[in-house]
Amino acid sequence: MRSKIKKFCFPLAISLLAAAVILLIIYIFGVRTRDQEPPTLRIGVAVYSQEDTFIGYLVQSLERMAREREAGENLRINVSTMDGKSSQLIQNEQVQRFIALNYDVLCVNIVDRTAAAYLIDMAADAEIPILFFNRQPVAEDLQRWESAYYIGAPAEQSGSLQGKIVLDLWENEQERVDKNGDGILQYVILEGEPGHQDTLIRTESCIQVLTNAGVRVEKLASDTANWNRSQAAAKMSQWQEKFGEAIEVVFSNNDDMALGAIDSLQEAGVTTQQYPIIVGVDATAPAQEAVRAGTMSGTVLNDGDGIAKAMLDLSLLLYHDEIPEQKLEIEEGHYIWLDYRQVTKAQLEGE
Ligand code: GAL
Ligand code: CA
Repeated sequence: MRSKIKKFCFPLAISLLAAAVILLIIYIFGVRTRDQEPPTLRIGVAVYSQEDTFIGYLVQSLERMAREREAGENLRINVSTMDGKSSQLIQNEQVQRFIALNYDVLCVNIVDRTAAAYLIDMAADAEIPILFFNRQPVAEDLQRWESAYYIGAPAEQSGSLQGKIVLDLWENEQERVDKNGDGILQYVILEGEPGHQDTLIRTESCIQVLTNAGVRVEKLASDTANWNRSQAAAKMSQWQEKFGEAIEVVFSNNDDMALGAIDSLQEAGVTTQQYPIIVGVDATAPAQEAVRAGTMSGTVLNDGDGIAKAMLDLSLLLYHDEIPEQKLEIEEGHYIWLDYRQVTKAQLEGE
């Protein structure tokens, strides 16, 4: 009887011991791997519209830089992007969702620049830093909370640089620009979305550069085409019909609309020699091609890479509880500015 029990218990004890050892190994291994797993910085990005060319580029640039940065640090960076489809209501819900999921940083390309207070208050309640970019909130709203920031490029500079491209042409090749030879610069303006800081300020400052230099100007027409290539083509067709050769310069608040103007001229069979002077802003790849080909006389680089890098730098500093002012140039406690740069054919060929 005794040996029977022995026979039965011994292997049982061995098996239990083995199982315990295995469980211990699994436990230790599990804890180890969990310890070694890097922490994750989760950035929630809400854009006004994913169809916008420049914004699409900027977000891609942010994602690429996040992947590069991950490799250098013991950290995962998760960038998750939501499309506001040009609706503030949709965007509010998307930001709310990021907050509910306890994201570490919010990056908002706000649909309606006057609607930031609501988002800032939500972010402040949840203590999640909120970084606005490209679409500038009203200054008083940004001041509601110390961890609300704006990262962008100074609109006035883009308009002035665009105006300067045209001023240089007027001063150096006036007979080419002033087609009717009346000493007055006749122009049209393709405007971005109404109410956008870049629309309002670019439209004003590009002309100011000319008038400040004493150039006489005459506006034939201006209208919004909402940053959009096909809307701009439709507008330009109407103006072509109405003014034809009388249009000497097309100022466009961005490149997509400048390219739309070119689409319409091409469609109408206008030869490139007869094109008016056409200038844009952004320096997208197709616009740079048009500048090289001479169909556009110039554009202004909107530094999407610089904006994306500043967003990432600031996100990392905030995530690590560092004081951003010590590492980044932050104006008035809330603003990071990236310069615009002029882009002409000579500059592109000199590169
Ligand atoms: C501007 C840019 C436009 C458009 C807009 C969207 O800075 O020039 O092309 O992307 O931002 O907010
Ligand atoms: Ca003229």
